[in-house]
Amino acid sequence: MLIRHVLPDWVVAAEMDPLMADPSALFPEERAEVARAVPKRAREFAAGRLLARQLFGELGMSSERAIPVAEGRAPLWPAGVVGSISHCHDLCAVALASCARSTGIGIDVEANRLLGRELRDLCLRPDEFGLPQSLWMLLFSAKESVYKALFPTMRQFLDFQDVSIRFEGEGTFRATLWRSAPPFRVGEHFPGRFFVGERHIATSVVLEKGALSPT
Ligand SMILES: CC(C)(COP(=O)(O)OP(=O)(O)OC[C@H]1O[C@@H](n2cnc3c(N)ncnc32)[C@H](O)[C@@H]1OP(=O)(O)O)[C@@H](O)C(=O)NCCC(=O)NCCS
Repeated sequence: MLIRHVLPDWVVAAEMDPLMADPSALFPEERAEVARAVPKRAREFAAGRLLARQLFGELGMSSERAIPVAEGRAPLWPAGVVGSISHCHDLCAVALASCARSTGIGIDVEANRLLGRELRDLCLRPDEFGLPQSLWMLLFSAKESVYKALFPTMRQFLDFQDVSIRFEGEGTFRATLWRSAPPFRVGEHFPGRFFVGERHIATSVVLEKGALSPT
């Protein structure tokens, strides 16, 4: 499983091809969210919800729970759970953990391809322009993971220019926040992991309860 490579073992995770997901299996309030969506979008939305319900079972909770769409399009997880959903054209991944272990999770999966040069100025900060183009997609994905992990706590939009990524050894990166987004501070660091597979890349930011920010 691709996403497993970027998660600690106490985070439960699942993946599927969104083509295999059946939107008619959604709860009525979830189905309403994609009632006017194109079939591809309805299937990817359904894949995230169906995988998350499987994982509720692994966390010892009932699977029979709808997952509404909350503020900022984030999933509204049941009390006691944090998690994240990501999809690309042929893969949907979900990661969940108990709030006893984590205060936020962000994951992102993308096809393993080059990010176009036209997106450089949007996604990279000037201090990141020196990175080779082969790393731009990872950097983009890492910033999306940061955003998803922080959003349920900060509840505000972050621009790609508000976060920088420094790749470190052994599949890890360190994200730095360059704008105040209470309770997160300017200069605060967040630990992340990345993995490069043959067809996909994956990144994650898992905020472990009680862990100190990396310096
Ligand atoms: C939210 C966002 C990150 C989603 O990324 P994406 O590449 O479009 O799509 P992904 O498939 O990886 O992720 C989509 C899932 O993310 C989740 N998501 C959406 N908004 C979210 C938010 N505000 N917080 C946490 N999770 C969110 C949802 O579960 C969604 O799937 P669903 O609609 O089927 O439930 C992106 O649309 C966005 O708004 N980006 C701008 C902000 C940003 O990335 N800033 C970077 C600097 S920190």
